Amino acid sequence: MSSLVLHNAQVLDPGEGKCFSGSVAVREGLISYFGESRAEAAAAAGSGAPELDAGGLLLTPGLIDMHVHLREPGNEAEETIASGSLAAVAGGFTSIVAMANTDPPVDDESGITFVRREGSRAGYANVFPVGTVTAGREGRELAEMAQMARGGAVAYSDDGSTVPTAGLLRRALSYARMLGKPILEHCEDPSLAAGGTMNEGRMSTRLGLNGIPCESEEIVVARDVAMARLTGGHVHIQHVSTAKAIEVIRRAKSEGVLVTAEVAPHHLALTSEVLRDYDPVYKVSPPLRGRDDVLACRRALADGVIDAVASDHAPHLQGEKELEFAAAPAGMIGLETTLGVVSTVLVKTGLMSWPELIPALTSRPAGILKLQLGRLIPGWPGDLTLIDPERDWLVEVGEFRSRSRNCPFQGWRLTGRAVLTVVGGRVVFDLDGRRAGR
Ligand code: DOR
Repeated sequence: MSSLVLHNAQVLDPGEGKCFSGSVAVREGLISYFGESRAEAAAAAGSGAPELDAGGLLLTPGLIDMHVHLREPGNEAEETIASGSLAAVAGGFTSIVAMANTDPPVDDESGITFVRREGSRAGYANVFPVGTVTAGREGRELAEMAQMARGGAVAYSDDGSTVPTAGLLRRALSYARMLGKPILEHCEDPSLAAGGTMNEGRMSTRLGLNGIPCESEEIVVARDVAMARLTGGHVHIQHVSTAKAIEVIRRAKSEGVLVTAEVAPHHLALTSEVLRDYDPVYKVSPPLRGRDDVLACRRALADGVIDAVASDHAPHLQGEKELEFAAAPAGMIGLETTLGVVSTVLVKTGLMSWPELIPALTSRPAGILKLQLGRLIPGWPGDLTLIDPERDWLVEVGEFRSRSRNCPFQGWRLTGRAVLTVVGGRVVFDLDGRRAGR
């Protein structure tokens, strides 16, 4: 268990909604103080705790990414739990939530235990496992949900696929409700999405590629909120990408249905126009949409209908991503660019302030998953992220910690970057050498 104190920070706790100049102390892994007094902070960290200068930068609770693919077990050439959690801390994330579509899928207690054990063995970010909804992720029978909860699953998801029938989802939501956990849903109607490789519209016609209509997402979101209403269970809509789906979620929330939602940075920053050269780096599921949908996603995050930002970090081998568009796998990496992309697209443009954005990366994902994280509360885990909101940097995938290179933001100039990441009072990423007092 580690202790440290950070002085001279712009401290931002999501519960407060505003920044103040001050210090944050961690003692033996837990937050012990946050406030304006340097002396009290130093005392709260305990004698001998390292004192770091935050240089007036933004200090927030550790960021949480509630949607990542770590590929272990089964596809360790693309990513491992260790390489993914190292990429996470380099992107400012102190906690990541690992999806279950590995090979084999994580559908029993031993799979859940494996992910947790490898996460703590790596020793970077906290790694929280998700278990599948259906056995083998095959969409036929429910997986051993209670057993996985016992092992430490934080939620259930067949991500990559939609739970195929309303009846199965109804039962899954009823069980998940008893277990106090959400179902995280990938919303695409397979009968509309099958064979499609990009958003259906003017661009797909021009490129001669099979399209996936926005309705494929809207229909499943509507079905899912109906099942959440019927069961009283919690459905969380993953990577929302369309204005129509957002309107369904907005209405369901206003009726008191237990539904939450996340958006991925690529759906906030990129339209289907980027596909003009058939570059599979931009192939993702759900697909990049048109401008109106992108703007709707930004507005819905700003007005709170979308609760969280999550990367949907999906590593793939370069050789596979270089196949022809229709044959290449869908997915893009995001752990090391998410903060910079949302900072550039939402904060730099004035659409959101930092106090408005940070809850979507901290307290709200923590609330959805019922994790005691994402706030600066004394006694809670000492996970912190120091952000330089003005840092201009060039995305260079060659420097990434991730094992994969399928990043759609290669060569972009971004503003805003995590410079120091602290997990349980231990510095796990230090871009500027602050620990050495440089
Ligand atoms: O594009 C995607 N890739 N979307 C998903 O839902 C799954 C992911 C993957 O695992 O590659």
